[in-house]
Amino acid sequence: MCGIVGYLGENNSIDVILEGLSRLEYRGYDSAGICIIDPQTAGLSSFRETGKLNNLKKVLAGKNLFSRIGIGHTRWATHGAVTADNAHPHSNELLAIVHNGIIENAGQLREELIAQGEKFYSQTDTETFLVLATRYYKQKMDLRWSVQQAFSHIRGNSAFVVMTAKGDEIVAIKRAAPLVCGQNNVNGDFFVSSDPYALVGFAEDIYFPEDEVICHIQKMTSGSMISFHDLEGKESSSFQKKKSELNADVVEKGEFEHFMLKEIFEQPRLIAQWLDFYVNGPGKEDVLKFQEYKSRTIHIVGCGTAWHAGLVIRDFVEHFNRIHTHVELASEFRYRDPLLKEEEIGLFISQSGETADTLAAEELCRENGLQTFSIVNTVGSTLYRNCVGNFLIRAGQEIGVASTKAFTLQVLTGYLCSRVLSKDFEGHNDLVRDEIKREVELLAERIDLFLKDSEGVKNIAQKIQKHKGFIFTGRRRYYPIALEGALKLKEIAYVHAEGFAAGELKHGPIALIDEDIVNIAIVSPELYEKTVSNVEEVKARNGVIVTIGPKNDAPLKEISDFYIPVDFEGLPNLGPLLVNVVNQVLAYYIALFKGTDIDKPRNLAKSVTVE
Ligand code: AGP
Repeated sequence: MCGIVGYLGENNSIDVILEGLSRLEYRGYDSAGICIIDPQTAGLSSFRETGKLNNLKKVLAGKNLFSRIGIGHTRWATHGAVTADNAHPHSNELLAIVHNGIIENAGQLREELIAQGEKFYSQTDTETFLVLATRYYKQKMDLRWSVQQAFSHIRGNSAFVVMTAKGDEIVAIKRAAPLVCGQNNVNGDFFVSSDPYALVGFAEDIYFPEDEVICHIQKMTSGSMISFHDLEGKESSSFQKKKSELNADVVEKGEFEHFMLKEIFEQPRLIAQWLDFYVNGPGKEDVLKFQEYKSRTIHIVGCGTAWHAGLVIRDFVEHFNRIHTHVELASEFRYRDPLLKEEEIGLFISQSGETADTLAAEELCRENGLQTFSIVNTVGSTLYRNCVGNFLIRAGQEIGVASTKAFTLQVLTGYLCSRVLSKDFEGHNDLVRDEIKREVELLAERIDLFLKDSEGVKNIAQKIQKHKGFIFTGRRRYYPIALEGALKLKEIAYVHAEGFAAGELKHGPIALIDEDIVNIAIVSPELYEKTVSNVEEVKARNGVIVTIGPKNDAPLKEISDFYIPVDFEGLPNLGPLLVNVVNQVLAYYIALFKGTDIDKPRNLAKSVTVE
């Protein structure tokens, strides 16, 4: 949720940190700040502004500062209002700190510290850690030891980055929150961040520390170095070191106005690459290992778009394997006291691999002895490291807060898993593999064709964008697509939109229908007549009808105010993914006409790392 960037090297930390934070803006935030060593006073100097990062940039622009060390932060408020005082970094004359996550026992710690004479200046839980660490620091002037001591007192999922007024070291530590360190092998600079994406082009080597491992970056006479220690202060090897897989073009929108549109248009290429990896290439073996878990009950868990993907995947798993498959909202599942048996499987879907509720749900399954697997986009994420097996969706960095390409590849990956679990995949049945290959290739082709000719959808978006409300409807595998289409519209256009099972309309929601309500009705060849009847019911009540239906369907076109033809031919399983791209484009253009912040929608974060 919050963005963290720290730097220690030979360049101006302000430039590095502001660039890194700008790359994390997509995660959503409401204030930003930076702490450096002031060249005049040689002490800690913090600058904190509410609103967009540009507000902070404007304040810094006029000061002509240079500092070889610094920590920066974009805050998505959890404890404490959106004010400059509550913005990070929090600092005093000795230490400065940035934080991502929640300190669950902050209230109790704050009371104890106040009783011991400490003063607080903000409403944040973060300041508790600053006060605690400072008390220890005053004892030994040992930063790593101080952070180690303070961290052992706090509960909750958090990442902290701390620097001292001496300006020659940074310490970072986390528990079930994203945190990486980076190293530039040429100039010896070191970085720390909540997201490897902030280090693209700066660091070749990325370190992924395990929970409760202290990362210590120090400036020595012989140059800077990084070391890792456990909470007892012993050297630790509990970290992974990888070459940065991201490249600079990830950072650019290219010819697109928004990252979201770029990512929508990336889908045909990414589907083709996915196919090469999973059906024709090395990923084949990864997925085949899943076969040993066939006939096990599966609990599919996720949030938001990932949950919608799970709903589609459940249909595949039950259809092809006839085994019980549950789909759960992680935020409910983790508190529902679900019935879990150790021979069952947990399948967790997450683009970021850092969603707090999904992580907690996975932990619940693991604690109950289930084998846990992820369908995840982020290598080295907490979910990735906690699961016994991972199916990477290989979508590349998804910058737009509204998930698009990740959904498509989540469903595709889940579809493949469902086929692998089925009997007809025994003995690597090449016929099934060829069937999958043909349909996936056709899907990529159809999406590409649609995207190249999406002007019609743009025109419809312009005509319907001012309506009061939107209801998306669909049946069976298209019901989750209706839910997903409504979520996209809500997220980026800030309009009231709901997804319903088409057959559910007459059980209440049809009361919503009037001339100011638009029904985006997904009319797939399957259950066609029943779905057309639902369209008629809405039309009879003056609803505005937008149908997404089979091409050359004159009768359907006749009853529609707007008709979006789709070629379902040859897509018996993956048709929902083609329709979903239509909904992505529709939502995008409605938002564009409304002038909202499409890549960084209000109130939203790309990765919800807090509950
Ligand atoms: C989707 O457009 C939203 N940004 C949101 O629902 C998202 O899917 C959800 O927060 C889950 O995120 P994850 O996939 O990173 O776990």
